[in-house]
This record gives sequence, C-alpha cells and structure tokens, in this order.
Amino acid sequence: MKTVTLHNKTFDIYITSDEISDIVNSIANQINNSGIKDPLFIAVMNGAFLFASDIMRKITIPNTEISFIKLSSYSGTQTTGKVSELIGIEGNISGRNIVVLEDIVDTGITLDKIITLLKKENVADIKIATLLFKPDAYTKDIHIDFIGKSIPNDFVVGYGLDYDELGRNLPHIYKLKD
Ligand code: IMP
Ligand code: MG
Repeated sequence: MKTVTLHNKTFDIYITSDEISDIVNSIANQINNSGIKDPLFIAVMNGAFLFASDIMRKITIPNTEISFIKLSSYSGTQTTGKVSELIGIEGNISGRNIVVLEDIVDTGITLDKIITLLKKENVADIKIATLLFKPDAYTKDIHIDFIGKSIPNDFVVGYGLDYDELGRNLPHIYKLKD
C-alpha cells in the first residue's frame, strides 16, 4: 500500500519493510560489536514492540536478557510534554548494563525520563538504541549510542508507531501527507 488512512489522516509510504530490516540488522551488528557484557535490553512499550522483537533475534551477545517498560507522552500527532509511567521497571537491575530500545526519539522528553528512572536503580551502564531519531525536534544533551535513521520533523506511523493507537501493525513506515 502506497498510502493509508488512519482516523482522519492520510499517510504516504516512507520507509519500506526491506529498508527497516536493513536498519535493524545494522543496529544489531553495532550492538553485537560494541563490547557490552551481559546486556539487559529494556524495550519501551508500546511503540518499540516490533523493533524489539526483530532486533532481539539478531543479538548474539551471551547472557542477553530483555524486559519492558511502558511510557506514554503522545496524544494525536503531538507530544503532551508530560510522560506518564504506565508500567515501571521490574525487579532489581542494579549493576546491570542496560540497552534501551526506543522506536523513535523526538523531543527526548521520554528518553530523559527513562534515564532518570534507570539512574535511580543504580545501573552500571546505559546505552540507547533507537530506530528513528528526529534531530530537529531533539531538546536534550543525552547521547544516543545507536541511531537507525535520522528523519525530518514529520509525524510517522507503522512498524509499532501509532497515530492514536492505529497503524502499529503496518509493516512499512508512513509519514503524514502534507
Ligand atoms: P519524545 O518524548 O518527544 O522524544 O517522544 C517519544 C515518544 O513519542 C516515542 O517513543 C513515540 O512513542 C512518540 N512519538 C514521537 N514521534 C512520533 C511520531 O512521529 N509518530 C508516532 N509516535 C511518535
Ligand atoms: Mg515510544
């Protein structure tokens, strides 16, 4: 499908599933070669669920674990500027080497919140991997270790990303038609 309509908006195809799998493979290779030991991946729900499931199959580091947190900040096509923690960190993660898996980093407010939560748990190390990054919207100084693709300030859906909960199941990524 070249275009999709979700709620009242139309989106054009932007990143195909083939391109997404190349990007995911490239991030997985970088993580595999980064020297991280016994990583605990933390995927940020809901948006990162497909990214996390695809990338985890490519991770070959011994003693790899994965866990999930659930945060929410978007309403419609805009950030509310406030992040709510819907499901928090489970169990004792102190001393762990964390790799955060994000679908997209936009303003960075969500990322900032995650880093604050992780630091409270006294983790040993935090690395960030994101499928997509919007550098023009980013307001934080937090270094992002693994970036799949940097994109302009467009609203995108598909492959886990939603517009008011619709579009997460699309295999390709689409952007809002202007
Ligand atoms: P941030 O806190 O502004 O960096 O936004 C991060 C979160 O907002 C992401 O994890 C997404 O869930 C959501 N988000 C940001 N940009 C988009 C977009 O273009 N489409 C869908 N969701 C987005
Ligand atoms: Mg998200």
